[in-house]
Amino acid sequence: MNVLVIGRGGREHSIIQKLCQSPQVEKVYAAPGNGGIEEQAERIDIKETDSSQLIHFAKENQVAWTIVGPENPLIDGIVDDFQAAGLKVFGPVKQAALIEGSKHFAKSLMEKYEIPTAAYEVFTEAADAKKYVHEKGAPIVIKADGLAAGKGVVVAETVAAADQAIEDMLIHGQFGNASREIVIEDFLEGEEFSLMAFVNGSQVHAMIPSQDHKRAFNGDEGPNTGGMGAYAPVPFLSEEEVNKAVTTILEPAAKAMVEEGSPFTGILYAGLIQTSEGAKVIEFNARFGDPETQVVLPLLKNDLIQVIADVMEGNDPQLEWRDGYCGGVVVASSGYPGSYDKGAILPELTSTNDTQVVHAGTKRSGGAYVSDGGRVLLVSGRAEALGKALDMVYSKLVAFERYDGFFYRHDIGKSALHK
Ligand code: AMP
Ligand code: GLY
Repeated sequence: MNVLVIGRGGREHSIIQKLCQSPQVEKVYAAPGNGGIEEQAERIDIKETDSSQLIHFAKENQVAWTIVGPENPLIDGIVDDFQAAGLKVFGPVKQAALIEGSKHFAKSLMEKYEIPTAAYEVFTEAADAKKYVHEKGAPIVIKADGLAAGKGVVVAETVAAADQAIEDMLIHGQFGNASREIVIEDFLEGEEFSLMAFVNGSQVHAMIPSQDHKRAFNGDEGPNTGGMGAYAPVPFLSEEEVNKAVTTILEPAAKAMVEEGSPFTGILYAGLIQTSEGAKVIEFNARFGDPETQVVLPLLKNDLIQVIADVMEGNDPQLEWRDGYCGGVVVASSGYPGSYDKGAILPELTSTNDTQVVHAGTKRSGGAYVSDGGRVLLVSGRAEALGKALDMVYSKLVAFERYDGFFYRHDIGKSALHK
């Protein structure tokens, strides 16, 4: 069969690498894809959000399944459009993607269905928001309601910083429509982890947990990014803790969406904090995580397209996982997540049995790959022990030492090794 993957990041490259291992998949198309994706898929020059062109393409090219990577097209309703055109597509409809698209919606859902999360209030008026913060004190967390390219969350260490964030969002319209409304919630303390599941209505098939590293620099210093590296599974979580997160968070959330009349289909991603009272939700996403996908899919034994077909038909996909760990380190352009230059030449890197090179912001230029985005690529390694997996990754990344224009964190997974 032919499969179309929508998106251009590392997450999509990882999905495509996995699809290519399936004996059922004959051809993969990527819209628009990236430089590295060209090795496995045919790139189509159509934007992620251009659903009418994508539908036209899928029909013309006998595409059996379309998998949607990023959140923007989901929140715009691309799945509704594909379904209306009679095409098979994997992802939530617009109304269900609201679980990521509106923090207010997600928080109300959790409140109504008693899903553990931080206490919160919603505001549209700066004066009211400030009054609440002054009563509550710091640290406190200020979140734009809508999508803000990963920049809409401020963890305010002081009341003054919270006031500033409130003014930026509600008075100065920092994120336009996305910050007309804000959520203010309690600061939660604990280790963060990500838990993704294949979901169809009330059926939830959880993957193994993973941990992202959101800050730009070593030691969790510097600004928040899309994610600088990840590993899976998470050694300091017991099986019981993970199962509890599935039964108290993912399953009730899926059931809640059914009860609200907008059943969720696709990948439900819970960003969680393991507090002293158990796991609590920081956010839900309506899609595969990036870079979590790049370290979770290499451990999945099943054929990904079969899993999707099973889940969509209401069958148990019987997920099976390899033993051991997968660790992945992102190489980013110097300056990211702020402004950065493009066009820096990359060293040649090749995947092996145990390591994978997953491209994000790259393109072909002459005989080489050059950088074309903030997060450039990720190298993952798979081994019995997490330390060994990460050693393999870091030995490969030594190749970057003689190349200018890049940086990466040297401590991905380190804290897990000492737990
Ligand atoms: P998000 O963009 O929602 O993933 O949030 C970005 C980061 O802010 C998260 O990875 C957390 O580190 C932090 N964060 C968000 N909400 C909270 C919270 N209630 N308590 C503590 N940290 C939070
Ligand atoms: N790694 C965080 C995300 O995908 O949103």
